[in-house]
Amino acid sequence: MKTPLRIGIAGLGTVGAGVVKLLAEHGRLLALRGGRPLKLVAVSARSRSKKRDIDLAGVRWEKDPLALATASDIDVVVELIGGSGGIARRLVQKSLTSGKHVVTANKALLALHGAEIAAQAEKKDRILAFEAAVAGGIPIIKALREGLVGNRVQRLYGILNGTCNYILTTMRETGRDFDVVLAEAQAAGYAEADPSFDVDGIDAAHKLAVLTGAAFGARVNFGGIHVEGIRRVTSMDIQFAEELGYRIKLLGLARETKYGIEQRVHPCMVPLATPIAHIEGVFNAVVIDGDFVGTTMFQGRGAGQGPTASAVVADLVDVARGRHMPAFVVPADRLADRPASPMDRHVGAYYMRLMVQDRPGVISAVSGALAKERISLESMLQRGRSESGEVPVVLTTHATEEAAMRRALAHIAKLKAVAEEPCLIRIEAF
Ligand code: HSE
Repeated sequence: MKTPLRIGIAGLGTVGAGVVKLLAEHGRLLALRGGRPLKLVAVSARSRSKKRDIDLAGVRWEKDPLALATASDIDVVVELIGGSGGIARRLVQKSLTSGKHVVTANKALLALHGAEIAAQAEKKDRILAFEAAVAGGIPIIKALREGLVGNRVQRLYGILNGTCNYILTTMRETGRDFDVVLAEAQAAGYAEADPSFDVDGIDAAHKLAVLTGAAFGARVNFGGIHVEGIRRVTSMDIQFAEELGYRIKLLGLARETKYGIEQRVHPCMVPLATPIAHIEGVFNAVVIDGDFVGTTMFQGRGAGQGPTASAVVADLVDVARGRHMPAFVVPADRLADRPASPMDRHVGAYYMRLMVQDRPGVISAVSGALAKERISLESMLQRGRSESGEVPVVLTTHATEEAAMRRALAHIAKLKAVAEEPCLIRIEAF
């Protein structure tokens, strides 16, 4: 019998418990696939008494997770604590400097300190693997490291947050507004009590930062991402989108431009004819455009016990086999320090929805503001009539630079007949 891979797990929440279950349930299969048994040696978590529905007989309990980093009977530390700093960061760094391999699902940590941690791993010739950090059960990091490694990535984009996708899908299906759907999702346990990481786009931005690093061979640059969440998306805009042949999705997108690497997370209108428009509910999807392979799309569950445990265990099998690739595909000291392409230079089409007083001359003033910035209108529609109140007016533009659109918008927002802050959503052409 070959020597087992000895595993220590820090964090026994939903994902940690899932990993323990998967290791137990598929022990024989994993030993075959990994070339040796995968043996859980020790665990550490905040509460020992919490009910978890897992069998930890024969597994050592460490009160202090940092003890896993230096334990002589552990080869790989699985960090499932979460958070960009604090104990999770200390555990990962100490494990690597102590010569352990590290598997982590911690997107926040990688988004903020990924390049530095990858360099530490390489210095010690240890594996740093994080399949579970991006899009849960979708093996997208492996796809970039392995199956697509021969390509130059031209562009990537994806639905990287299941909570937002669930909320947007439910808003569309029921016609209800954001606050109502969010409250229901929280009551049903689909959204966190503090939903800001999800609905403000931060979780998706963490994942995008990690994906961009792996896809473009660049130092992870979370600070360079333009981030907007979904709080301002209304069911009215969702309905208008459908009328115009689009669906609203929170996307993370990255590509190289002449200014650097453009990374953005925000609500987008995507054509109904594209596959990503039909990824609904809690599902995630990632699209990679490679120069030789063309367009590839991966979809699956982006969160949850089974999918995330599946991704963690895939990394453990790589460690068992000694499959060793640089964490971000190219060696850490060769990761390029690319500037963030400024959002002002982004070029694309736009959807703008105004609430305006229904009287002659309003549209002319709005189109005058657009013409002044040399923005070409693609379509315009008004629904309903009102003698006294406001009516929605929707305009879509041809491709224009964001800076020009912003200037026009500032002008339009100040018009007397415009009743509330205009809603602006970028239209993506794929
Ligand atoms: N909260 C995330 C989501 C899953 O809703 O997709 C973990 O990153």
